[in-house]
Amino acid sequence: MTAATSETTRRLGTAPDPGTLDPAERLSLDELRAQQLERLRWSLRHAYENVPHYRRAFDDAGVHPDDCRELADLARFPTTSKTDLRDNYPFGMFAVPREQVRRVHASSGTTGRPTVVGYTERDLGTWATVMARSIRAAGGRPGDVLHNAYGYGLFTGGLGAHYGAEQLGCTVVPVSGGMTPRQVQLITDFRPRIVMVTPSYMLTVIDEFEKQGLDPRASSLEIGIFGAEPWTEQMRREMEQRLDIQAVDIYGLSEVMGPGVAQECVETKDGLHIWEDHFYPEVIDPLTGEVLPEGERGELVFTSLTKEAMPVVRYRTRDLTRLLPGTARPGMRRMEKVTGRTDDMIILRGVNLFPTQIEEIVLRTPGLSPHFALELTTRGRLDHLTCRIEARPDSPAERRDAAAAEVAKGVKDMVGTSIEVLVVDPETLPRSVGKLQRLRDLRKRTGA
Ligand code: DLL
Repeated sequence: MTAATSETTRRLGTAPDPGTLDPAERLSLDELRAQQLERLRWSLRHAYENVPHYRRAFDDAGVHPDDCRELADLARFPTTSKTDLRDNYPFGMFAVPREQVRRVHASSGTTGRPTVVGYTERDLGTWATVMARSIRAAGGRPGDVLHNAYGYGLFTGGLGAHYGAEQLGCTVVPVSGGMTPRQVQLITDFRPRIVMVTPSYMLTVIDEFEKQGLDPRASSLEIGIFGAEPWTEQMRREMEQRLDIQAVDIYGLSEVMGPGVAQECVETKDGLHIWEDHFYPEVIDPLTGEVLPEGERGELVFTSLTKEAMPVVRYRTRDLTRLLPGTARPGMRRMEKVTGRTDDMIILRGVNLFPTQIEEIVLRTPGLSPHFALELTTRGRLDHLTCRIEARPDSPAERRDAAAAEVAKGVKDMVGTSIEVLVVDPETLPRSVGKLQRLRDLRKRTGA
């Protein structure tokens, strides 16, 4: 291989040998649609017959599983929300006797009860299969050492990635999150090829490399599989450059399975292929609930096709994206990178703004680090958004005011509203060790 081609292969990543793909990844569109319809009809029946919530919801909507004769009929069925899961806490959404549930996970939830999810033996096998498929699509191969810094425990990230990596044939280092200096030591000593971690915690680990006087680009890492929170193309460039790796996106949510619902393929890096043989996607208008045509942006909704312990029918994820045709896996549709959730949208004096829009502007402004924090307060009777951003350690002090003005102007140009931007000293903002809480909302609630 010449230097030029080896550089190109490294930059674009290498497609897996087609012989190593799962049969589902090679299905034609017609074959996949036929399989989906058959599985969908089973899943709707399974939910209706075994979960009182679904029986009630279907009856109230005047639909029966037998009414699903083609995939488009799914739109006639009611959607399911996080509140439905909370109302049936802890095990009311299970469709099998509790004794058949091999494991539960739960999402912490910022208020009140957590959301509990369950898996049968077969569900755990399905999950490991889609995770193994995801790691392979990211460029991972049997024999690779994989450093897993997603949190282990009730969060699905740690164990989900763990069993998928083992199934693919990797050597897993189950570090979990936290103890950042030790993360650096283990990456240096065990020489992993792959790291799996939230993107915000990866930044914390990269900083720690530099703090210890080590060059992160010289580490053994070649692939980063980042997800569990939104991150932008600018963040991808930042991490690829600082670590000299391929950075790819992984998506999932506990209610639908956990990580491994959709994965970006390293050879195209053009959005995430949804593993549609197990998870059927729709995009709806979040206000009217109407199904939108392919290509239009809206709220992502999933129906599980094979899950036994906790089937979900038209589960509203709150994640905003759009569906696109498959590329690296032509049968499977892609979802565009999720850059916001309906519920992390900031409504600032009537204008909609997402933290990722600010991230994009911060990362393209010279002199600023990717570490920033947002705080919403009430001043007088108006919403006030303060954005604190750390300066890069090597950036001259004179640059700070100009950088702050550039970000404020960037936000004003993009959404038409003013925010306060403060550039602060390096290493003064809290660091992420898992999912990052970008925004603190300290607004006074009126009328409450
Ligand atoms: O975050 C599962 C996961 C673990 C995915 C590790 C990827 C890697 P939950 O804690 O239930 O599950 O949170 C799900 O996180 O609805 C999205 O809002 C967000 N999310 C997950 N992956 C991405 C991503 C796990 N790649 C919620 N981009 C989802 C943007 C993501 N947001």
